[in-house]
Amino acid sequence: MSDARQYKIGLLGCGTVGGGLVELVNRNRSLIRERTGVDLTFTRILVRNLDRERPGVDRNLLTVHPEKVINNGCDIVVELIGGLEPARGFIRNALSRHKHVVTANKALLALDGSSLLGAAAREGVQFGFEASVCGGIPIIHALQNGLRGNKIHSITGILNGTCNYILSRMEDGFDFADALREAQQKGFAESDPSLDIDGDDAAQKLKILSELAFDGSIGSGSVETRGIREIKAGDVLNASRHGYVIKHIAIAEAREERVSLRVGPALLPKSHQLAAVRDENNAVLVNADAAGEVLFYGKGAGSLPSASAVLSDVIEIATQRKADLRVPTRSLDTVQGKEGNRSYLGFTVAHANAVFSIPSMLESCGVSVISSDVSSDNAGKPNHIGIFADAPVKRALRTALHSISDLGLSQGKPTVVTVAC
Ligand code: HSE
Repeated sequence: MSDARQYKIGLLGCGTVGGGLVELVNRNRSLIRERTGVDLTFTRILVRNLDRERPGVDRNLLTVHPEKVINNGCDIVVELIGGLEPARGFIRNALSRHKHVVTANKALLALDGSSLLGAAAREGVQFGFEASVCGGIPIIHALQNGLRGNKIHSITGILNGTCNYILSRMEDGFDFADALREAQQKGFAESDPSLDIDGDDAAQKLKILSELAFDGSIGSGSVETRGIREIKAGDVLNASRHGYVIKHIAIAEAREERVSLRVGPALLPKSHQLAAVRDENNAVLVNADAAGEVLFYGKGAGSLPSASAVLSDVIEIATQRKADLRVPTRSLDTVQGKEGNRSYLGFTVAHANAVFSIPSMLESCGVSVISSDVSSDNAGKPNHIGIFADAPVKRALRTALHSISDLGLSQGKPTVVTVAC
């Protein structure tokens, strides 16, 4: 197409996602030109280290000076550095120069999303963040557009690819540390993987989705957050024997004028829609008043899936098809989420007798033991007990766990995973 309109991208960051964006634009440039009449090019690309090998990236475009990217004739600034600073300063600088901005920065959006959207609206520019949640799954777009006429009742999702990868590998018999190492080697994990395994990454993503779904800003610290650190391969096997999988689940529910948000491990029956989501895949189940249940599934992490999401924002903005910015105008109150009574409890036992003492301690505190599975080491000595228990009063379970720990019946932190209702 000879009359294609040039559209110039200033790119901040050329790591996993930035490199993926360059590769994807190079690969699909003519296809995009034919479909949209827009010819995408990069003006400059900000990197930290000019000497690093970056196959497929034109070295002449690289710079270590942010100003040369932001203030050098580009139409749009794409921020793929991540983290709070200097990314926030770069974005604010770009907005103040009336540049459209696209970012994948979930940490920044979870903390400061409303104010950045407000700044973009004041400058009369667009602000895209599809890549901040669930990599290649167009869930932001779905909430902003496809489900726009719906009242959203709830969102239930697997939002962290690293946790899902680790738990999937543990189903295959790997231990936690080896599974995490693999996720790091494959590039899914954050540079500080505690953000993944302690649940903060999923909490940030749930907050971003919830602000869109429930039309309001949500205060920081409003997501009840638990990770998967204490889960052992034995717990995953015990769950499986009883017909469950352990997943790291994010749940946001509208409760009258309030919302509850929580992320943490949960036992799902193997028949649940999210139970079959394995490896680094993500899934989001949206319950909406008109559309009913809508399930989104796909790769939630990785270079090209995330680049696909960035590129969709860039193309929408370049072709002026992006929906109006929805800047939250109210704050949402949060309330504690409701959990079911049944839990799975996993203990590494301190001595052989503890396999009897732990269930009787639970019972004596008012927690009903439904079943228990004892595992032994190679010498036949009991080393782990997995218990399904009902605790109608949560305080009873807390008291029992404290007593078990105080009496030295178990080693380390027990695994406590609620069975999803
Ligand atoms: N560390 C993130 C994950 C990357 O594992 O889901 C994608 O946001």
